[in-house]
Amino acid sequence: MTAHTPNLPNSMAARDIAHVMHPYTNLVKHEVAGPLVIERGKGIYVYDDQGKEYIEGMAGLWCAGLGFSEAALVDAAIEQMRKLPYYHGFGHKTTAPVVELAEKLKSLSPVPVGKVFFAEGGSGANDTFIKLVWYYNNALGRPQKKTILSRVKGYHGVTVATASLTGLPANHRDFDLPIAGIKHVDCPHYYRFAEPGESEADFVARLARNLESFIQSEGPDTVAAFIAEPIMGAGGVVLPPEGYFPAIQAVLKKYDILSAADEVICGFGRTGKLWGAERFNYKPDFVTCAKQMSSAYLPISAVLVPEHVYSAIRDNSGKIGTFGHGFTYGGHPVAAAVALRALQIYEERDVYGHVNRISPRFLARLKRLADHPLVGEARGTGLIGAAELVADKATKRSFAPAAGVGAACMNFAQEEGLIIRAMAGDVIGFCPPMIITESEIDALFDRFERALARTEAWVAQQGLRSAA
Ligand SMILES: Cc1ncc(COP(=O)(O)O)c(C=O)c1O
Repeated sequence: MTAHTPNLPNSMAARDIAHVMHPYTNLVKHEVAGPLVIERGKGIYVYDDQGKEYIEGMAGLWCAGLGFSEAALVDAAIEQMRKLPYYHGFGHKTTAPVVELAEKLKSLSPVPVGKVFFAEGGSGANDTFIKLVWYYNNALGRPQKKTILSRVKGYHGVTVATASLTGLPANHRDFDLPIAGIKHVDCPHYYRFAEPGESEADFVARLARNLESFIQSEGPDTVAAFIAEPIMGAGGVVLPPEGYFPAIQAVLKKYDILSAADEVICGFGRTGKLWGAERFNYKPDFVTCAKQMSSAYLPISAVLVPEHVYSAIRDNSGKIGTFGHGFTYGGHPVAAAVALRALQIYEERDVYGHVNRISPRFLARLKRLADHPLVGEARGTGLIGAAELVADKATKRSFAPAAGVGAACMNFAQEEGLIIRAMAGDVIGFCPPMIITESEIDALFDRFERALARTEAWVAQQGLRSAA
């Protein structure tokens, strides 16, 4: 970790250590190493409080699609702030930015939807999805149909229910999760989970068969819905194999199980298509989205709700007297105005076309990493990718988790002026702002290759391959 003056008593770093509890951080290490204090941003770059420049190779948390200095979004926020800085949608109220954003999202949706429900973040949107499914099935008089299926290595958030959907050990361990009623099915990562000699088509067929047996063993009448990211993000940038979603959806349809595409990362151009679902031939009933919807300048998320689900929920709320769900800041008018402007900019400046034009360069540099002795698989599409570091390329043997090889690589990259993300299993993620240029892509991978060389030297020096 690049320490930044944590020892100076009044430094920002020292004050951070004293007062801030960090998300997704080793809290013991943090008190020694201190934070990286990010002070400002410009384009794809951010700068720390020592003035050092970093390429933000993850667009923050897969979200700042327009980079870190888009004046038009700032102007949209200021304009709405001046007019009406806050209002809500409870009890029949609304605001123009919310109505316009709902119209826009419906027009963009990859599948026909009836209504749009707004929340503040991806977790809130996915949590809402679960609640809508439960409420819907109660409204239809089938209270036993409640189980939600998600996948091993899927990531859907951190609330009690969405951390339960998430299929990653760190989100469950010692949090007493997952809760009952949420079950995990196979991860579609061919590189990791195919059997020896199994073709991609056979792998897909096996996953579909496994899903069907699982539904049968649970009892089809008890299984309500399935949620999946088109590309798994935090689980390690896992791309589904060809034909995966159609095969899985055929099973879901057979048992009247609703589906949701969690487009929180993939939505709005990340894969080179507007939606990840389009890229992978997934035709979900629901869509949840956030992050790039506002280029992350303000928090906002949405659930796109199919008409038949909405109408059952509407009728039930009429009987109960209210639809008892909603967030104080869900559909915040300033966030909605910024999201509307972001979606406009993506179209006006042909950002989606830009992603498609520069993606070949991104993928060429990414795939070149696979020649490195540490990289077992380099995978990606559009402007999202990952390099999976392994101890032995031939056997795909991973390093011992305690060796911290991915974290070491991330720290070397940081020293080289590149922010990337090390995920479980020593998978290094790349997800730069969508405005990145070809020469900036080269700079990103040049910095990463230097970090990888330093990681390789460190692995050898520590003897980590044999120790694994
Ligand atoms: C696919 C996906 N879904 C949901 C979430 C949760 O979003 P949030 O952190 O805004 O609650 C994330 C966050 O990274 C995500 O990647």
